[in-house]
Amino acid sequence: MSHGQSAFDAAQELRALLPRKYELAVVLGSGFYPILENLQVIKEIPYSVIGNFPKSTVPGHAGKFVCAEVEDTPVLFLSGRLHYYEGHSMQKVTFPVRVLAEAGIRHLLLTNAAGGIHPDLAPGDLMVVNDHINFMGDSPLRGMPGSGFASPFVDLSNAYDRRMTDLLVKAGRLVGLKMQTGIYLAVSGPHYETPAEIRVFRQAGADAVGMSTVPEVIVANHCSLPVAAVSCIANRCSGLSRSPLNHEDVLETVAGASEMISRFFSSFVRLYSN
Ligand code: HPA
Repeated sequence: MSHGQSAFDAAQELRALLPRKYELAVVLGSGFYPILENLQVIKEIPYSVIGNFPKSTVPGHAGKFVCAEVEDTPVLFLSGRLHYYEGHSMQKVTFPVRVLAEAGIRHLLLTNAAGGIHPDLAPGDLMVVNDHINFMGDSPLRGMPGSGFASPFVDLSNAYDRRMTDLLVKAGRLVGLKMQTGIYLAVSGPHYETPAEIRVFRQAGADAVGMSTVPEVIVANHCSLPVAAVSCIANRCSGLSRSPLNHEDVLETVAGASEMISRFFSSFVRLYSN
């Protein structure tokens, strides 16, 4: 079965389970989960009840849809994302995006934790992604048929939706955040980079580096689903600070930013729904 067909089937199953219609979906990355603690959850739908829906292997990220309301605006969250570094194919990692597009979602927000390269990006800062560099060495559209489906030769010259991106920046500034915009460079991971790699990435114009998001952005564009992304800077990149990098510290830093992230997110939804 083609991914198009199985995403269509999964979307039908999802739609039947949703309590209402959703236009905004949000993929929660490391650090963004606490958003859920401060809002009204209407229903949870484990990924496992939807046939074909891939399951995450990261402990504690069982994977579920969370149907919620943020100040009366319905938002569909994806709690638990698949990463390329877990060994999944690009097609599998991006399958949820195809399902969302088929299920009638109009706007997709991707969130992640990233390492800061630009000197102005400190741990705890938020960066709205305005462009990316794909250094993962793969494309989720590789092998896609050129006919009977949207063309795999997708134009990425405006990959990040301008209106959503502007709203994200404005939302952050309204709650007192600096809100920078920048270029996200994606690596496959799971290892962190060497200082020499980070120097190359800086010269190439990257502001932050992470291990997710880019495949999903490519597929959202393939599905003509407007998409935006925001990174919580978890650490200064390899070679840019004295502290050694480890996953637990990265998670701890973003956990410390949770209250600010919740305020930012409510501010975004308020602007989005007006
Ligand atoms: N590099 C890559 N991915 C990351 C980093 C990093 O320094 N921090 C959080 N995700």
